[in-house]
Amino acid sequence: MTRIFSGIKPTGHLTLGNYLGAVRQWVEAGQYEAESLFCVVDLHALTVEHDPARLRRLSRQVATLFLASGLDPERCTLFVQSHVSEHTRLAYLMECTATDGELRRMIQYKEKAAKAQASGDGVRLSLLTYPALMAADILAYDTDEVPVGEDQRQHVELTRDLAVRFNQRYGHTFTVPKVTLPTVAARVMDLQDPRSKMGKSHDSAAGIVYLLDEPGVITKKVMRAVTDSGDGGVAYDRDARPGVANLLDVLAACTGGDPAALADGYQGYGALKRDVAEAVVELLRPVRERHAALAADPAEVERVLRAGAARARALAAPVVDRAYEAIGLLAP
Ligand code: AMP
Ligand code: TRP
Repeated sequence: MTRIFSGIKPTGHLTLGNYLGAVRQWVEAGQYEAESLFCVVDLHALTVEHDPARLRRLSRQVATLFLASGLDPERCTLFVQSHVSEHTRLAYLMECTATDGELRRMIQYKEKAAKAQASGDGVRLSLLTYPALMAADILAYDTDEVPVGEDQRQHVELTRDLAVRFNQRYGHTFTVPKVTLPTVAARVMDLQDPRSKMGKSHDSAAGIVYLLDEPGVITKKVMRAVTDSGDGGVAYDRDARPGVANLLDVLAACTGGDPAALADGYQGYGALKRDVAEAVVELLRPVRERHAALAADPAEVERVLRAGAARARALAAPVVDRAYEAIGLLAP
């Protein structure tokens, strides 16, 4: 059976981008056609300035939202990365496989390092080595497929390179994984700045729809979305009209249509925005309601995570042992 692994960092409240680009795909494909593991990758949240209390809160919230979004702990393994030490054990071997140049070429590193430097915080070394840990997350489970949004493609490609290189040098050890991208809404853009990704760690919340936003808040954010000056007609053109294209992408992702075909049904931006707002509100309503019910019973969420970590450990340990042996380390 196909093995799937993916994860989300608890660095902020989950957004519509996380839902459409990641979690919803996991629910739809992952847990029924494959053996899947979904992880709150908390160690990755330590690569930039962080607040310990907020990290704890967000880690619980992300795990709760996994369940609220419909991931079924009977069908897939839900766990927290730091609960399974195999990830960091294998990350070191990945650091010994990757090169400094390779890691410095990562777009996300360049962007986040520049931002950390500009704010005077200093760049944590783990920001550079992060893709080695991400490769370990994936390779420790003999993963076949990694469903992520477009922005993570480069990291998964590096993971493939590292797996191939390790296998060539030390004998076949790892399954070489492939990335799977969603067909629509692989990249949901910020409603106020449609040329940049809707990201959970942005400073301004005006262009970001959070999974737990109230319906009124969602509607307000969508109605105030930046659209493009043009002849006023609605057309799907990602380069020339990124704001409108983003709204059409979101509508298509919510309703199952095709963004270019949907454009034909609108004369003006107002009607389009109203439909987008309604579609998003209805899409997220059940998630928010289930989240509220689950958050009232944190012990149950903890139980799910503990059971998930035990299952994950049992899968990862033999793979990581195999890698330690292959690279020339003595068995303990
Ligand atoms: P992150 O928020 O960077 O931890 O990303 C978690 C997952 O959500 C990854 O698979 C990302 O590719 C995906 N993701 C994050 N933001 C977006 C977005 N704006 N559009 C589509 N997918 C996204
Ligand atoms: N780096 C990913 C992100 O920022 C999160 C992540 C960490 C991940 N490890 C992973 C995703 C392994 C898929 C597989 O979104």
